[in-house]
Amino acid sequence: MQKLRIAIQKSGRLHDDSIKLLKECGIDINNGVNKLKTEASNFPLEVFFLRDDDIPQYVEDGVADIGIVGENVVLEKNRPFQTVEKLGFGKCRLSIAVDKSAQYNGVKDLQGLRIATSYPVIVDKFLKDNKVEAEIHEISGSVEIAPGIGLAEAICDLVSSGSTLFMNGLKEVETVLKSEAILVANSQLNGEQQILLKKLQFRIQAVKKAKN
Ligand code: PRP
Ligand code: ZN
Ligand code: MG
Repeated sequence: MQKLRIAIQKSGRLHDDSIKLLKECGIDINNGVNKLKTEASNFPLEVFFLRDDDIPQYVEDGVADIGIVGENVVLEKNRPFQTVEKLGFGKCRLSIAVDKSAQYNGVKDLQGLRIATSYPVIVDKFLKDNKVEAEIHEISGSVEIAPGIGLAEAICDLVSSGSTLFMNGLKEVETVLKSEAILVANSQLNGEQQILLKKLQFRIQAVKKAKN
């Protein structure tokens, strides 16, 4: 029987709400700790637990058919997969932050700074739109420590509760964009997979409606 393979975050910001959404859709999965793969008992769904940053690539390559990711990763890389549904959780913003003691009066103060980020495309566009010239340093993680170790004067990263910024002595000074969790799908699903996806999407929409 045809199954749909969904990739969700193994741990972190989107994990709990992703599991909760599947449950609210009436899908029973037992996500035992440290299990990287499991199956639903009452829906033809296989669940892969992966690093959030790897999910877009898995969906693009067809290793997973669908996935739950942050909108921000889709905006950063113009990917060939389709956005199926906004999910209404995982709300956060991609923001620029500087040392909490730094003077900051506006976007022009970013001129000439080094900005560390995992989102070079989005940051580049933001700087161009604001006619500011700054140096972008692309790093893949732990962006918030960059100012503290002398790698950059500013960062651009996701902010949710703000506690990561706070713990690293940074203050948020510009919101570049807002993001939330979305369901994405590989662009070449076969007929049966598309029917399963429609079924799942229908349930997700019902869950969303019930919350409004
Ligand atoms: C994001 C971001 C920060 C954290 C911010 O990480 O990179 O580290 O969330 O959240 P806070 O404002 O609530 O402290 P992400 O969810 O992408 O996880 P990852 O860094 O492990 O990939
Ligand atoms: Zn991430
Ligand atoms: Mg992070």
